[in-house]
Amino acid sequence: DNQIDALECMAIDPVRYLSNRSSGKMGFAIAQAALEAGAEVDLIHGPVVLTPPSRSRVTAVVSAQEMYDAVMATVESVDIFIACAAVADYRIEAPAQQKRKKDDVSLNLTLTPTRDILLSVTALPEPPFAVGFAAETENLLRHARSKLERKSLDMIAANQVGVEGSGFESSANELHVLWKGGEQVLAKAPKQAIARQLVRLIANCYCLRK
Ligand code: C5P
Repeated sequence: DNQIDALECMAIDPVRYLSNRSSGKMGFAIAQAALEAGAEVDLIHGPVVLTPPSRSRVTAVVSAQEMYDAVMATVESVDIFIACAAVADYRIEAPAQQKRKKDDVSLNLTLTPTRDILLSVTALPEPPFAVGFAAETENLLRHARSKLERKSLDMIAANQVGVEGSGFESSANELHVLWKGGEQVLAKAPKQAIARQLVRLIANCYCLRK
C-alpha cells in the first residue's frame, strides 16, 4: 500500500511507473546559484539522484499531489517562485495493488490530469514573482509566449527539446528567456553557468517590478 501511495502519480503497479526524461539538474543548479547570490532557498524536488545544496531547506516528494501540497505550504512566505520541475501532467487513475501479470493483450491505462502547480501559485491573491519553464519540441517561442500569458507568469525560460547535448538528461542547457518587457538568449553552457545567468536576470526583473 505504501509503495502505491508513494508512487501515486504515475504508478502502474507496485513495481512499475511512467516517467519523463527530466534529471532535476537544472533545478538543483538554480537552487545553488540562488544561494550563491545570497537568497534563502526552499528546494522542493521530486525523485532525483542528486545531492541538494547544503544550505537549502529541502523537501523531497514523489507525486505531483505531494509537490502541490509542499509548494502551497511554502509559497506564501516566498518572494520568488521558480517552477523548474517537470511535474507529471497526468496520474494513473487506478494503480494495481499487486504486480500486474503479463498476458498477450494490450494494457489500457486511464490517465487523469494532475493539478497545475504553477497556475495555482499565480492564481493566489498575492502571488510571488513567478518563473516558469517551457520545454518544447516545436514552435518554442510561440508556445513559451502563450504559457507566459496563460499562466500569468513574470518570466519564462524556454528550451528546445532534442538539441544534441542540451536540456533533458544533459549537463548543459540553452535557454530563451522571455518576460513582459524583453527577452534574452542564454547560449549553450553548463547548467551551473546557465543557472547563474538566469538568477541574475530574475533578480533584475524582480527589482524592476518592485
Ligand atoms: O504547460 P506546461 O506543463 O508545459 O508548463 C510547464 C511549466 O508548468 C513548468 O514551469 C512546470 O514546472 C509547471 N507545471 C506545474 N504543475 C504541473 C505541470 C507543470 O507547476 N502539473
